[in-house]
Amino acid sequence: MKLWKKILIGLGLTVVVAMLLINPKRTNPPVAPGRDLLASNTPPAEIVTILRNACYDCHSHETKWPWYSRVAPVSWWVVDHVNHGREELNFSEWPHDDPKRAARRLRSMGDVVMEGEMPLSSYVKGHPEALLSDQQRDAFSRWAEAEADRMLAILEAAAIREREQ
Ligand code: HEC
Repeated sequence: MKLWKKILIGLGLTVVVAMLLINPKRTNPPVAPGRDLLASNTPPAEIVTILRNACYDCHSHETKWPWYSRVAPVSWWVVDHVNHGREELNFSEWPHDDPKRAARRLRSMGDVVMEGEMPLSSYVKGHPEALLSDQQRDAFSRWAEAEADRMLAILEAAAIREREQ
């Protein structure tokens, strides 16, 4: 084999090995007590199960990273999904002291689950426990709507108290 061919193959192999080893950072930042959605809104068990099985891997700091999230190039895709998911909505940084923002989030959670947009279908393929039945989607959306209403009622009550003072 010609020397330049050997060099090219060597370089190619180096790039492949480097790609397999260079993986994006997988983080699980600490969860402050009381800041989490489950702590501040205490959903019923059925809803906790749905959130834990179908949402928490991408929308919290408690991601259970699968083995393939260590292997490039899949790792880039998985880590990107989690980072992006956390940016949009992070149950570990729930607006526990801001009922208006909490209500807005709850409404969009109910909507995306009802419409089947979440959990992402690519995720459900590898996580059968995240596949939600119609009954679960319905229960989840009803809970989210009721919680949103409850948050707004808290706000309303505070406004009334303020006016009466
Ligand atoms: C595989 C990762 C993943 C899972 C699992 C997942 N999400 Fe998401 N979610 C994302 C990403 C990424 C985005 C931002 C991009 C987008 O909207 O598609 C997002 C966006 C959202 C948004 C904002 C949508 C908007 O348009 O404002 C809501 C609400 C949401 N997810 C709720 C949920 C709920 C509730 C669950 C569980 C039933 C869930 N997600 C499961 C990754 C995920």
